[in-house]
Amino acid sequence: MKSLSFHFCVLIIFGSLLIPAICHGHDSHSQKPHKHVPLFVFGDSLFDPGNNLYLNTSHKEASAYWPYGETFFKRPTGRLSDGRLVPDFIAEFMELPLTTAYLQPGTHRFTHGSNFASGGAGVLADTHPGTISLPLQLSYFKNVVKQLKQKLGEVKTKKLLMRAVYLFSIGGNDYFGFYMKNQNASQSSQTQFVGMVIRNLTNALEEIYQIGGRKIAFQNVGPLGCVPTNRAKTGNGACAEEASAMAKMHNAALANVLKNLQTRLPRFKYSIFDYYNTLSDKINHPSKYGFKEGKSACCGSGAYRANNCGGQGVGGTTTKFELCSIPGDYVWFDGGHTTERANRQLAELLWNGTPNCTAPHNIKQLFGHME
Ligand SMILES: *[C@@H]1O[C@H](CO)[C@@H](O)[C@H](O)[C@H]1NC(C)=O
Ligand SMILES: *[C@@H]1O[C@H](CO)[C@@H](O)[C@H](O)[C@H]1NC(C)=O
Ligand SMILES: *[C@@H]1O[C@H](CO)[C@@H](O)[C@H](O)[C@H]1NC(C)=O
Ligand SMILES: *[C@@H]1O[C@H](CO)[C@@H](O)[C@H](O)[C@H]1NC(C)=O
Repeated sequence: MKSLSFHFCVLIIFGSLLIPAICHGHDSHSQKPHKHVPLFVFGDSLFDPGNNLYLNTSHKEASAYWPYGETFFKRPTGRLSDGRLVPDFIAEFMELPLTTAYLQPGTHRFTHGSNFASGGAGVLADTHPGTISLPLQLSYFKNVVKQLKQKLGEVKTKKLLMRAVYLFSIGGNDYFGFYMKNQNASQSSQTQFVGMVIRNLTNALEEIYQIGGRKIAFQNVGPLGCVPTNRAKTGNGACAEEASAMAKMHNAALANVLKNLQTRLPRFKYSIFDYYNTLSDKINHPSKYGFKEGKSACCGSGAYRANNCGGQGVGGTTTKFELCSIPGDYVWFDGGHTTERANRQLAELLWNGTPNCTAPHNIKQLFGHME
């Protein structure tokens, strides 16, 4: 049994390319593949469809309580939003069922892929121990591969793995944790930390490639300092710029790493969605995207309704919180996680965004590409 002394619902995620993203979905001309393409998802709370409900922790996750899930599922499912998350929509675009949590009991159709993401998780194993860190997610993935080989044999499994899309949202919690512990970190210790995260991440990607993965898709790290929880802390309504700075460093390094892997590894293809700038634009210009509010959350208490959505405070205390009547009017559902409506908009850009927000390929192009 692992006992956790903090609350995962406020652990966030976030990053950057240089273009302020005002990008659009467009039709690419790839043909629909005849065989289905599996989707394997790795990441943090932005992509966790309920894995954390099955962790052996002493507290229940906030995502296990109403009003999480209220819009689409009509019940909490372990997703930190009012409805579906980005990987759910990507699965839908790929004509697969909603993404399922790897740890969910029952039988799984691993030929469709699986979702290993875990709220609070980081690239590094020591970012929030007790969550499913990226190394642990990778070992779960290997477990899936083993089961697929038993079912389909080596050759078919390898083909399936080469056809699959591997979708990531990871890194934000590593920087969030570093920022909380080292608010006055020197430039050189920040650079060192980013280097360590990026090296570990690169190793994980190389491992997936060795196993058979060819199509890697990233949502980069978002504007960590501008999530409601961090905005509430600055006291003047501004974003916590220092928190976003490391995300930007990470995103620049991530773009270099993936470019480098593509030149070194035959048939390796990738996609990076510029979540950092896309989300920043929604926060700053909500009405452009059909939202009424970009800074304050729909659900929570205190300034910007930054905390306490679901009312399950640390230590199991129940506290009051406010809930908006139309989540779709808001970019943020809680202090760190976007509404289903925002998630759908984001997913559409991952799927078929133009190169100024999703590059060098979008997921639709990776999906349509046949080995
Ligand atoms: C991104 O590309 C789209 C379509 O090509 C264009 O309409 C939009 O203005 C571009 N945005 C930026 C910031 O360049
Ligand atoms: C939780 O504990 C049970 C019983 O000890 C074990 O079977 C299960 O694998 C554990 N789950 C995780 C996610 O560690
Ligand atoms: C960081 O530095 C500022 C001034 O340089 C100081 O006031 C503050 O207490 C420091 N914070 C921490 C966490 O060390
Ligand atoms: C990966 O991260 C760990 C800390 O979790 C660190 O000790 C190790 O050196 C890193 N690996 C690489 C290759 O940088």
